[in-house]
Order: sequence, then structure tokens, then C-alpha cells
Amino acid sequence: MALRKPPAQRTEDELELIFEELLHIKAVAHLSNSVKRELASVLMFESHQRAGTVLFSQGDKGTSWYIIWKGSVNVVTHGKGLVATLHEGDDFGQLALVNDAPRAATIILREDNCHFLRVDKQDFNHILKDVEANTMRLKEHGKVVLVLQKNLQGGSNQPATARSSRYFVMAGTPEKILEHLLEFMRLDATLYDPVDTLLGDFLLTYTVFMPTSQLCRALLHHFRAEPLEGSEQEKATYSLHKRRKILRLVSQWVLLYGRLLQGDRSTTALLQNLADLASQDPRLGGLVQEQAQERRRPRALENGDGSVSPQPKARSSGNWLSSQEEAILSSSCALRAQDKVSYEIYRPDHSCLMTVLPVNASVRDILRALAPRLGRDREHILVKVNSAGDKVGLQPDAVGVFTALGLNERLFAVSVEELGSLTPHPEQLGPHVGSSETLDLISSKDLASHLTDYDWNLFKSIHQVEMIHYIVGPQKFHDVTTANLERVMRRFNELQYWVATELCLCPEVGRRAQLLRKFIKLAAHLKEQKNLNSFFAVMFGVSNTAVSRLAKTWERLPHKIRKLHSALERMLDPSWNHRVYRLAVAKLSPPIIPFVPLLLKDMTFIHEGNRTLAENLINFEKMHMMAKTVRVLQRCRGHAHAPLSPLRNRSPHRPEDPKAVRISTCSEQSLSVRSPVSTWAYLQHLKAIDSQKELLRLSHDLES
Ligand code: CMP
Repeated sequence: MALRKPPAQRTEDELELIFEELLHIKAVAHLSNSVKRELASVLMFESHQRAGTVLFSQGDKGTSWYIIWKGSVNVVTHGKGLVATLHEGDDFGQLALVNDAPRAATIILREDNCHFLRVDKQDFNHILKDVEANTMRLKEHGKVVLVLQKNLQGGSNQPATARSSRYFVMAGTPEKILEHLLEFMRLDATLYDPVDTLLGDFLLTYTVFMPTSQLCRALLHHFRAEPLEGSEQEKATYSLHKRRKILRLVSQWVLLYGRLLQGDRSTTALLQNLADLASQDPRLGGLVQEQAQERRRPRALENGDGSVSPQPKARSSGNWLSSQEEAILSSSCALRAQDKVSYEIYRPDHSCLMTVLPVNASVRDILRALAPRLGRDREHILVKVNSAGDKVGLQPDAVGVFTALGLNERLFAVSVEELGSLTPHPEQLGPHVGSSETLDLISSKDLASHLTDYDWNLFKSIHQVEMIHYIVGPQKFHDVTTANLERVMRRFNELQYWVATELCLCPEVGRRAQLLRKFIKLAAHLKEQKNLNSFFAVMFGVSNTAVSRLAKTWERLPHKIRKLHSALERMLDPSWNHRVYRLAVAKLSPPIIPFVPLLLKDMTFIHEGNRTLAENLINFEKMHMMAKTVRVLQRCRGHAHAPLSPLRNRSPHRPEDPKAVRISTCSEQSLSVRSPVSTWAYLQHLKAIDSQKELLRLSHDLES
């Protein structure tokens, strides 16, 4: 039989015969004839006599791809046992070859006298690895559990070698995706690997498809699971390798989520358990510390400080973070769900009640805290009121309602009887006089620098996963907050309405033109300082119809400034999906503050345009896309946890802790401008009219 001959000795006729045989084999049906001909010249025949023979074991290095010519095999994985049976015409063993990863399962002969066609790794790589788009569906107990696909369309930003060769997870059950990740990941895998993004994508998005407690359980299960087959030596080697990978994964997880994991009971228990288990094994004992030290090393170089950090000390979470990482994470002004902030709740008579509660307190918690001051004789509800007087009653179990308030919105605690007569607080309507005199004293460049300094702190405090929670629905996640992202979005609105308000409250046309000129120059400086979020906000402010219709004001602008405005306006062009902006940003080096509303729009598109579950499998392609968009945040910051890298020199005085959430103020600010302190204070609490109707009314009064 031609197939039993060594490939080099096959005649033309024999090759033709083998080729014709291949035409009937399911495993190669999708391949072109020329590929089948190439295969005919390399395929080798292999047979085994006894049922129970192990062809190869999970964790082994992959050396060949197999097609079953006769007989059947069992696919067995550690922890699960038999997951699938493969029959004549089926193939197996390509996963390890394509991904250059260990074998994902053990293959055992199911019957006596099985025949295989074997293609060795070198030939497989040469002929098959890149030939055509290939989808692989791994089944367990008859159900598809993982769908892998070669990434032929590939990101154009990826190197050619990475683009075509590997399998990418397209869909799967949460457990199988995790299992695949643990098989596939390298011991030095990082969150920020630009080519192999599976670890980072999984850690960024897992909350969308599996609760943290489930992930903790699965990781502990994998850590404890012992291999079912192999010699004692093989089993020990496999377990050690797997456990090292789990520790690596967990350390990257802690690095990404940092303080967000504190207070979560299942994670704290997992970290403690793993640290204890690892300390019992001398080969793993030092690993937790090593991981922390290793993550610290490159950053010290990146910072160029050459400093040697102190040895990490023992902590309750078991040394998962280096002391430097902990210091960076805790110095951040990011708000966490359980952080306490000061709530301002109004009464129908416009008096203000203050109470201190966690960011994610529920409406019920807020009302309970206020109960002694509200009086117990009547039921009270919490109502959100905007400047136009529109009211929205809040559900008792809604959380994070205070930090989610929009510009000039306030929370009112009222009884049902009081609801009808509720009017907005006068502060909600915005100022009656502008502050152009104050603004006259600050140069547009200084203004831009102060704004950027402030914005950078806010932007830096957005956690990458907030973007995902915000889009997928914050109400789904009770233990996380999206307050930092909401703070940036509110600031964006504040800035754009502030610009329009100041212009509409400037009664004299000459002064108004001066002010307009200042805002255009401000936008130019913001763009130069790579603060694109505030650049867009200021440009939106001057493009507001209440401002753009002020023809007499625009006429007074010097030609040079009008030209500058037109040039800046080009960046706002939304056509071709904001192509001008996207190209411009791609050319900038970090740190950058990006146009955050566009990032959220991109995320919304991905979320609404792609199902999370398809045929009961997680659509992991969607997770890849979401993670890629979220990574823009990190690219813009330069490095995920770069120690407070400013866009410019930070102002010398910072009178207020940015963590103190100021959504509204009960008191007036007194200003003595020019000092950085008062400029900072002024810019922190910009006052704005957020009613478009009112702005238009003022605008018509100015220039009919
Ligand atoms: P590889 O990882 O190279 O070696 C084991 C092979 O078993 C794997 O490639 C797949 O081809 C095959 N296989 C079939 N079903 C499964 C499954 N459910 N999980 C893992 N491997 C599977």
C-alpha cells in the first residue's frame, strides 16, 4: 500500500493514488486540491494495536497532526475526563501546532487496531498553517464548547507573522475559554502583550460573561486539580506548570483591577487560598513575590529613576502587589464603589441635607440615612430634577445615583404630596452674570494648562473596566462603580455649556468678541497640549447655535482668529467615522486625553451591534473588540500605572482633593484671580446654564 511507504520513496502513481484517497476524507475536504497534493507527499501511516494506548498526553509538546483513517479515539482532559470521541475521517492535534502551545487534551485509542495518517509539525507548518481561513469547533459531550479561528483578516497593525498564523478564540463557554487560556498562556504572559491579547482581553471583559465568584471558583479548581494520566513525574511537571500559570494570571488580574478587588470577598478568599497553597509548595512559595518584583522591574527602568524598590512586605492579600504598585494604586484619585462621598440632597424648600455614604449606596440607603431629618410621619421618595424642572423618581434599589447626576441635576427627597410643587433649586438654572472679568485676568494658555492639569487627574482615574461596565449596564454590577467615567463626561458637558454661557452672558459686543477670541485660542492651546476631550468641549461650546448665530460678534474677530477657528473645526468633522480626528490621534504620542464621548460611542456600537451570547456560547470576538477599544485609554496614558505622569508641570497648589466629588456647590466661591490657587478653584466649579432654550433666549436678546 502506497501510504505505508516512506514519503521519499513514493512514485508519481502512488502519490496520485494517495491524493485520490484524500478526496474522500472529511478532515481535508475544505482544503484545495493543490494542498491535498502536497499532503500526499508528506503523509505518514501510523497504526496502533491496543485499545487504551495513549497517543499523546495533555501538556505534551505538539509534534504532529493526525487524521483517523480507521478506528476511533477518546479525547480526555484533566479534571473533566472523557470529553469527546473522534471517529474515522476526524482529525486532531492541530491546536498545539498552530498555537505553539502544549497539547490541550490526551488522546487514547478507543479500540484495537487503529490507523492514522500523520503529518509532522514541520510539514504541517509548511503546507497547512497558513493555507486558508480555518475554523475549529471543539466539542465536549456532543456540544460545541470552543470555537477557534485563524485570524486571516488580522489587524493591519499587527506584524505579518502574528496576523495569519494563530487560532483566536471566537466563542466558547466561560469555563472552556478559561481552560484554553490556561493551556495556551505563557508563564511570562502580560496584560499588555500587543500580539497575544487573550489574557488581557479575558481579564478586561470577564465580568460581562461570568461573575467574579465563578472565576475564583474555577481558578481554585484548576489549581487543585491533579492530572488523571501519565507517570508521577509527568503529572507533577504538568501540575507545577499549570499552577505557575494560574499564579501568573492572578497576578496580572490584581495588577489590572488593583484596589477594585479590595473588599470583594471571593477574590480576597482566593488570593489568600492561593498564597497559602503556593507557600506549601517550595517550588511555588517564592513565586507570588517574584511576580510582584518582576512586574516592578521594567517600570523602574521606564521611569528612568533607576531606583531599587524595597522588598514587598507581607499583606493580607498575600503579596500580590509590589509595595510600589500599592502606593501608586492608593494614591490615585479614582473613586471606588465603597468609597464614602458627601451627598447633597435637597428638600422642596431648597434647603440642602448632607450625608456621607458609599458611592454605590442605594436609593433605599440614602433615604434611610436621611430618615431622622425627613420625619417619619410620611413616606419619602428620591427624585432627580433637572434645570427645566423635569422629575424622575428613582427606584429604591438603584445604586450610584448621586455620582451619575448630569450637569445641573439635583436629587430631592420629597413626599408624594410635595412632588407636584417641586421646583428646581435656583443654582440649577445657572449664573445670571458672566465671569468675563475674571477670565480677562487669565491668559488662554494658562487657562488651558490649568484645565488640562485638572482633566488629567479626572481622566487618569477612569478604570479601564469602567468603560465596559458603563456600556453593558452599570446596574448589572453592584460592586463596581462607573463614577470616574461619569465625572469625566459631566465635566465635558460642564465645559461646553460654560463656554456658551459665558458668551451669552457677556452683554457688550466688543467684550464678547474678545471672549470668543479667547475661547478659540483656548481650544488651540488645549489641542496643542493633547487635551482633546476639552478641546472638543470648548469647540462644541463656540459652535453652539446660541453662539454661532451671533453674527456681529463673529464679524469682529480678526481674520487670523477666524482662520484659526476654521482650521480647528476640521478636527470636529464627523464624516467617515471621525476620520480626521482618528488620524490625528494616531499620530500623537502619549500622554493624550482623548475625546471620551467618541470612545463611548465606539463601545456602544460594539455592544449593540454584536450579541454577547450566540448559540449559548460567549461571543468572544465581541470581547476582543471591546477590550481593544478600552485599551485606547491605556495607550493614551502612556503606561497603565505610570506614576502620575502629568501632561505638563502640575500647578503648585492643589487646594482640594479631587476625590471629593463636587457635583454641585452649596456655597459661592470668592475669587481673587491670578494666583494659581484661585484659578484652580474657579476652574473646578464652572457655572453654566445647561438649558439650550435659555441660552437661545439670551442670545436673541444680545443680537436679535
Ligand atoms: P491539541 O491541543 O494539539 O491536542 C489535543 C487535541 O484534541 C486538540 O489539539 C484538538 O484537536 C482535539 N480536541 C477535540 N476536542 C477537544 C476538546 N473538547 N478540548 C481540547 N481538545 C480537543
